[in-house]
Amino acid sequence: MRIAVLTGAGISAESGIRTFRASNGLWEDHCIEDVASVEGFMRDPVLVHRFYNMRRADAARAQPNAAHKALARLAQHHELTLITQNVDDLHERGGSDDVIHMHGSLLGALCAECGHRWPAPLAMRSLDLCPNCGKPQTRPDIVWFGEVPHHLERIFNAVEQAQLFAAIGTSGQVYPAAGLARHARRAGVRTIEMNMANTVIGRDFHEKRSGPASQVVPEWVAELCP
Ligand code: APR
Repeated sequence: MRIAVLTGAGISAESGIRTFRASNGLWEDHCIEDVASVEGFMRDPVLVHRFYNMRRADAARAQPNAAHKALARLAQHHELTLITQNVDDLHERGGSDDVIHMHGSLLGALCAECGHRWPAPLAMRSLDLCPNCGKPQTRPDIVWFGEVPHHLERIFNAVEQAQLFAAIGTSGQVYPAAGLARHARRAGVRTIEMNMANTVIGRDFHEKRSGPASQVVPEWVAELCP
């Protein structure tokens, strides 16, 4: 079966990585404009690098949980397109490959001057020089608000052609990711949501499974894998 899965910060929550909009979420003590926009980076690159260095260190300490591992198992039995809004590498360390990081990755560095990409060091500094053009315009390879997410054509094609679309651990508040369930439904694809709470996109799903991802995702995968 062709399955498309979209994950959000909730799938990594039980691995100890903070989500964004929960009570102790990242956006509770960081202003999005300051740390997740081009303007914020141009204004204060030191602050931005400090924010992502902290998140990179948190991600490096975290371990994939049963939900990440279950999705890797799902790919062994079905044609899975795994799309994530997350910038950690827990899907990869949980055994998935070909993960579509539509919001970029903490493991990547990008030159704001020439567009060159390279593996990010654990701690990036605002005066790091680009290995390609030599300019001090190194930024995290993260898609910030106002920028276009990666791989959109591939993502929408996979969702339209799937027989099943699942959204796991996302609040559905950031587009275009938040519109994928409705896009799937309009294409006749069966949709399922797995989350600890109700979300603003809940009405876009045929089925809802409530609970922690490390519990509901392995249960769901076990039903699909003999
Ligand atoms: N199991 C399942 N779901 C969970 C768990 C858990 N253990 N813990 C939290 N959740 C759910 C919450 O109920 C919430 O719906 O995960 C969701 C997390 O929502 P957000 O913090 O908004 O994260 P996300 O939806 O991934 O944010 C999307 O917003 O800030 C931008 O670029 C950032 O990629 C991010 C995007």
